[in-house]
Formats: sequence, C-alpha cells, structure tokens
Amino acid sequence: MPRALRPPRNDSPAPAALPGIDRLAEGGGGEEVWLDVIRQMDRVYAELVESQVALEEKNAELENAQEFIASVMRAMSDLLIVADAEGRIVQVNDALIRLSGLAPGDLEGRPLAEVLRPADPAEGPAFEADLRARRPFSDREVTIRAASGEAVALSVNGSPRRDRRDRPVGLVLIGRPVGELQRAYRELDAALRRFERAQQHLVASEKMAALGRLVAGVAHELNNPISFIYGNMHALQKYESRITRYLAAVEGGAPGRDLAALREELGIARILDDMPRLIEGTLEGAERVSAIVQDLRRFSGTQNEPDEEFALRRALETAVSWVARGQAVMPQVVLDCPEGLLVHTRRGHLHQIIVNLLQNAVDALAGTGRARIEITARAGDAGPEVELADNGPGIRPEAADRIFEPFFTTKPAGKGTGLGLYLSWRMAEELGARLELLPAARGARFRLRLPASPPERAP
Ligand SMILES: Nc1ncnc2c1ncn2[C@@H]1O[C@H](COP(=O)(O)OP(=O)(O)OP(=O)(O)O)[C@@H](O)[C@H]1O
Ligand SMILES: [Mg+2]
Repeated sequence: MPRALRPPRNDSPAPAALPGIDRLAEGGGGEEVWLDVIRQMDRVYAELVESQVALEEKNAELENAQEFIASVMRAMSDLLIVADAEGRIVQVNDALIRLSGLAPGDLEGRPLAEVLRPADPAEGPAFEADLRARRPFSDREVTIRAASGEAVALSVNGSPRRDRRDRPVGLVLIGRPVGELQRAYRELDAALRRFERAQQHLVASEKMAALGRLVAGVAHELNNPISFIYGNMHALQKYESRITRYLAAVEGGAPGRDLAALREELGIARILDDMPRLIEGTLEGAERVSAIVQDLRRFSGTQNEPDEEFALRRALETAVSWVARGQAVMPQVVLDCPEGLLVHTRRGHLHQIIVNLLQNAVDALAGTGRARIEITARAGDAGPEVELADNGPGIRPEAADRIFEPFFTTKPAGKGTGLGLYLSWRMAEELGARLELLPAARGARFRLRLPASPPERAP
C-alpha cells in the first residue's frame, strides 16, 4: 500500500464529515475555519498512516507463519496430503513429491480416491466411504502410482480437518512408504534373532562353565569309590585264587589234617570273614558312582524332566555337597529342614536353583571370616519354602533391582556371566514357584516359595 498520502487539494471533493466545510460552502467562515479544516485533515491523515503500519505488521506476521508452516512441511519425512471438503487434493508436501516423482500440479485438484488406491482391492468401498465421510482412519495400506508407473505402497492415517468453528473442511493424510517400514521391521527382526542366538550361546556356555567347575569336583568324587572298588576287587581276586586252591585240595581227597593245615596257611577263615565287608563296600562304591552319574545327568538335561515327590532335606544336602565338591574352602553350612518335608516338583530344577544360590553365597563369602550359610526350609501355608541366607557383604540397593537381569554381574570377567540368578528365576517360574531377594540386616537372603502342587504342564 502506498505510504505518501497528500493533503486534499482545494478542488478535491470535501469529506462531508469535516466540520467547518459547511460553513465555508455557505460563504461564511474565514481563516479560523480553514485552520480547523486543516487540523481535522491532519488527524485523519495520522490515523490512516497508523492503520497502514498496523496492516504491514500483520502482513509480516502472516508471512512468517506461512514460512513456518512451509518449512515444517518441507522438513517432514512422512508424506502429507491435504484434501478439501470435496475430497480433492489441495496440497502435498515435498516428501510425497520426492517419493512419487510427480509434480504438485499432477496431484493438486485431483480426488483423493483416484490418487490413492487400497492395496487390497476388496477394501476399496470401505476406504472410499471413509474419505467421503471424512472419518478418521489409521494404518490403511494404499498405493500411489509414481511418475515411473510403479505402484508405491504406503501406510496412511487420516484425520478430519476443521475450520475455526469446528466445521469439517477436509482431510489430512499422513503416511509412510510401507517398503521402508518393512525394511525396518526386517532389520529389527534380524537383530532380534542375532540377539537370541547370542543369548542362547551364552546360556549354553554358562551351563558349560558351571559344568566345568563341577567336573573337577566330580572327578575327585568318582576317584574315591572307584579306587576302593578297584582295591576290593584286587583283594577278591587274591581270595578267589586261595579258595580255588583249597577247593582243589578238597576235591583231590586230601586228608582232614592236611586240609586244616592248608586252611590255616591260606587264611580261609579270615577270607570268609572279610568277604561280606568287601562285597558290601564294592556295592556301596558302585552305588555312589551311579548316584554321581545320575546327578550329572540331572544337571545336563532338565528340560523335560517330570515332576516327582521327594524329600526336600535330601535334595538340599545333595546341592550342598555338589557345591562343596568344587570348593577348596567351604563355609559352614547350617541346614534346618524337617526330615519328613516332601516336595512335589522337578528335582533337577530345584537342585540347580539351590546350587546357583549356594554358589553365589560361597563366592560372596570368599575370604571373609566366620563365613556361614543358613538354609532353612519349612512347610509354608501356601507351599514349601526354602530360605538361604549368608553373612557375606550383601547386595547394594542399586544392584538389588538388577540381580535377576540376564548378564548382570559384579564379578570380574571370566568369573561370572550374570546368568545364574536369571536362569534360577526362570526355572522357578517354570516350577510355578517364586524366587525373591529378601531384605536383610546383614549378608544376602533369598527365598524360594514352591507351590503346594506343581503347575499343569503340557504333555
Ligand atoms: N549371596 C550374594 N551375596 C552378594 N551378592 C550376590 C549374592 N548373590 C548374588 N549376588 C550378586 O548378584 C549378581 C548376579 O548373580 P548371578 O548368579 O546372576 O551371576 P554371577 O554369579 O555374577 O555369575 P554366574 O552365576 O553366571 O556365574 C552377582 O554378580 C552378585 O553381584
Ligand atoms: Mg551366580
């Protein structure tokens, strides 16, 4: 708008509202009247300039707002389509132009239903009905024909556009190329699979490491019964040759006196005395070997183990002896468990949970004086409960929230993988049990609450 306004010339039509003009026209007035007219003209002029400045300011604000909207639309990586009340495209953003290779003029003014087609033709009527009714919709798969002729798949959300009085004036569609989503999904899926493989690998290597720690102890444990079975068999072999010699003399019809002397010489009475002890000892040794082998089997494959009823005390004792086997110095273990307390669960799982808890307690107690582990079991109201407490350094509050997370460990590299408690927690879940850390004034205290009866399992 031009700024230079000039005062009206004498021949220009006089504004009717100016006082004094009437008097001039009537021929009256004088200098006073003219001055009055000029003052009024000045005031009107000043008002006009003021409104022009205000108008220019508003114009600048409008331009800024338009520039802001345009910059947001240019920066959007999602596709944007704005349609009017008749469903005709009024505006699209640069992302859509780039993706489709079309010019804005190819799209603007065309009906939405003609430009976007549902990926599944069966959904056509429903999609068109949504567009007509300007109903909101989400995640609709549609295609747009690109300049190259190729149909590009998009996933779009639509929402009605309203004016200041909340009347529907069109639709706003925001979308993304489905190909990009699918690629992101595939990458996520592959990453998840890699993570699962790594996790399985670590779980397996944790099992192997735990097995390795125990194998040293087991080898020692096996050595003992095997060596006394071996010793007994040696003695039995010697006895066998003496008995054979004596029987040969009996069969040969040797006189009673000679036989008595031979019995004395061969120590037959001592042999007969010794035999039951030797046989019993050998059998016991074989039973110990078989028990160790059973324990090993239990440790290596507990996946499909059935539930069984067994004495909890015996299972706790076995777990203690397992952990003790691998230790040069074992803390004092106080076991308080009623003799007749029976549990009905998977023996191998329970064994591993207790072994893991004990191993952690033993590790925490390493190098501390008066190290002590208390295992207390009782028949709780809701089912059997086992508590395992140690008088070690305990678990700091910030670590307490994380100890059941996979791979959380405070042990130096190579000493712990941080899977012991995670696996124990998972195994407890499988048993329908709960494994939790209890608050303790000193050391760490864990509780395992078993269900009264085992959970239903798929065959
Ligand atoms: N009795 C305990 N006293 C002190 N800290 C403990 C005790 N039990 C567990 N923790 C803490 O919890 C962490 C996680 O234990 P978890 O058994 O899951 O893994 P780990 O013992 O470190 O390694 P892994 O069991 O795989 O050899 C331990 O590193 C330790 O910091
Ligand atoms: Mg552990």
